[in-house]
Amino acid sequence: MGTTCEVLGTGMRVPEEIITNEYLSTIVETSDDWIVTRTGMKERRRVGSDQAASDLAVPAAQQALDQAGINANQLGMIIVATVTPDTLFPATACVVQDRIGAKQIPAFDISAGCTGAIYALAMADQFIRSGAAQYVLVIGVELLTRITNWSDRSTCVLFGDGAGAMVVGPSRDGETGMLGFHLASDGAKGTTLYMPAGGSRLPATCETVEKNLHTLFMRGNEIYKTAVTTMYESCRVLIDRAKLTPQDIDLYVFHQANLRILESVGRRLEVSPDRVFVNIHKYGNTSSASTMMAIHEAREEGRIRSGSRVLQVAFGAGLTWGGILWKW
Ligand code: ACO
Repeated sequence: MGTTCEVLGTGMRVPEEIITNEYLSTIVETSDDWIVTRTGMKERRRVGSDQAASDLAVPAAQQALDQAGINANQLGMIIVATVTPDTLFPATACVVQDRIGAKQIPAFDISAGCTGAIYALAMADQFIRSGAAQYVLVIGVELLTRITNWSDRSTCVLFGDGAGAMVVGPSRDGETGMLGFHLASDGAKGTTLYMPAGGSRLPATCETVEKNLHTLFMRGNEIYKTAVTTMYESCRVLIDRAKLTPQDIDLYVFHQANLRILESVGRRLEVSPDRVFVNIHKYGNTSSASTMMAIHEAREEGRIRSGSRVLQVAFGAGLTWGGILWKW
């Protein structure tokens, strides 16, 4: 196997419409105080009725390509992580391949819930190490507002839309880049977070629509506990394998699901809060886009610099969880 991959460029795109806590208080029985105290969220973004996942994925990808100094026709593969693709098939990755003008390269979507981008980056690394691809475009994109039940206050306040992208290629010095990854799943807990209808188990009927079964269903407090233990586990595995300590990590980029979850994992690792990146107040939970957007913003803010050690960690539907240890 050849050298590991490194990040050559990042990008992101969120829609313009801002959904505030005040607005949500007008459609369900909730309040700014409840949402901020329980989740840390203040705003999230929502796409217009004419937009689909690829409409956010394409500009995020173009920004990452520009930053990397790579032309779309140099890409060897495109992987899109999403549970809200433009259509169930063909894959949104194929739509992106066409719209950015890439060659007829492999392009496919993967479904690993909010951990999707972590799974996709680990796959990209394997293709790069084997020499099957040189430059891989990885995108996490999610339009969760499209599968939100707007009458369920326990979920509709949590989610937003967005896309984050990375262009990865072979590490230039063999030391910078992906130092390791950890991926895991537990299908026994699958129905704690899922969309009941729309697949082969329960195809669309008038009844499934009337019962709101084409929207996200979540047992929030069960997921909460699992989120803290699984994200902590991924951190521990990666830190121990690299023979580091939690204090050796410059920045923790966790899936932005709930501020209290991020703070709990940070406390269990005994790291200071300023090492835990937070942008949940601006975007809410954007699922597979979440850590990709966070890494892009952390780089823009100068919180990830050359030499930084960064842990990108997520959990989500599946259940799935996992992480990547980067050296920038
Ligand atoms: N406004 C006001 N009250 C509310 C709201 C709301 N928006 N939502 C729920 N409540 C009420 C409940 O009805 C309940 O009332 P009751 O005590 O009268 O029955 C009370 O608040 C407490 O409800 P809990 O569900 O116990 O509240 P909790 O503190 O657990 O917070 C939350 C709920 C925010 C969903 C939390 O459990 C959480 O963040 N869980 C993790 C979710 C998550 O991380 N998902 C990530 C994976 S999903 C993905 O990434 C796509």
